[in-house]
Amino acid sequence: MSKHIGILTAGGDSPGLNATIRGVGKCAQGQYGMQITGFKDGFKGLTENRSFRLDGDVLSGILTVGGTILGTSRDKPHRMNIGGKVRDMTDVIVENYHANHLDALVCLGGGGTQKNALKLMEKGLNIITLPKTIDNDVGITDTTFGFDTALGIATDAIDRLHSTAHSHHRIIVVEIMGHRAGWLALGAGIAGGADVILTPEIPYNINQVAEAITQRLRKGKSFSIVAVAEGALPIEDAAKLKALEKKKLNPKDKQEKKQAKIDIAAFEKEHAEHTFTLSRQLEELTGLESRVTILGHLQRGGTPSAADRILATHLGTACATLVQQCQFGVMVASINGKAEPVPLEKVAGNKKLVPKDHPWLITARQVDTNLGN
Ligand code: F6P
Repeated sequence: MSKHIGILTAGGDSPGLNATIRGVGKCAQGQYGMQITGFKDGFKGLTENRSFRLDGDVLSGILTVGGTILGTSRDKPHRMNIGGKVRDMTDVIVENYHANHLDALVCLGGGGTQKNALKLMEKGLNIITLPKTIDNDVGITDTTFGFDTALGIATDAIDRLHSTAHSHHRIIVVEIMGHRAGWLALGAGIAGGADVILTPEIPYNINQVAEAITQRLRKGKSFSIVAVAEGALPIEDAAKLKALEKKKLNPKDKQEKKQAKIDIAAFEKEHAEHTFTLSRQLEELTGLESRVTILGHLQRGGTPSAADRILATHLGTACATLVQQCQFGVMVASINGKAEPVPLEKVAGNKKLVPKDHPWLITARQVDTNLGN
């Protein structure tokens, strides 16, 4: 009997989601004669049984389209907002999976989705995930779809910002997404020739950043581009956050864990404007005028790059083949150019940060880029 796959996209949208849906769907239907049903708006849609069949017509013409035809949300199965109350909807999801006679559920998402998918796998569902995020921070896979496109957008932005920085003799501080990982800022910073690159993995010393800019001034370079990751922190704040996270991970009791979560949320709220603070401090310390550009969701929009389309199609079709082979409880990772199934237990909670000895960091230093330390 032919298999029936359910598919959903969860977390933030990302270029390459539609290309992946197409890859899974075309291969599942064309090669293996399976049925495929899309659930709308992530886990929320599966809870509410909002779905539609992804037959040939629906999958046509979406390879190059940004966003996701399924819609997405950040809802978690075990903590879903239902009519203003937070409820565990895992059992409803399990019920709907069976009511729809699914043989497998394919979840496209980033780090949060991998954790949620693992929980559903532990409830006995046949789960396969695919690694999506512009942040490139999902463990084990070499890369995630969406990253290459966002990297191109951020690099293009830095290229364009050079004109104003150069013409007005200014510092331009450009904030780049990436959550708590520095892949996007580092990659775009190198590709765009930023003079300073600040990442969450290397807490920065503001005086050293200012000194690097002042040294450029002395050499007659009257402008500087600072590429700052949204999660970058000065040394003191990084130490504060580390202490809070330690408490959250190893609390004395439930109360301490709850308090640590509240304190982390307050810290993040306070930190939301940090790029403006950084810009003001650099103005004061260097005497140069400084301006801020926040790239924000521009980095997640638009048509996926060729590399992301290839990756998405490769991983998507491999996913359909794994369903055919009944290999479940895995994420389809890209390892050395190959699509490899890796156990979800190894991926969930495994955040891939930029290692201290990563070749990109060495490269940046070798072209005199200041990394904040
Ligand atoms: O994970 C992708 C991402 O764009 C992060 O870089 C960023 O921190 C976050 O999502 C923003 O989320 P939202 O779209 O919910 O504001």
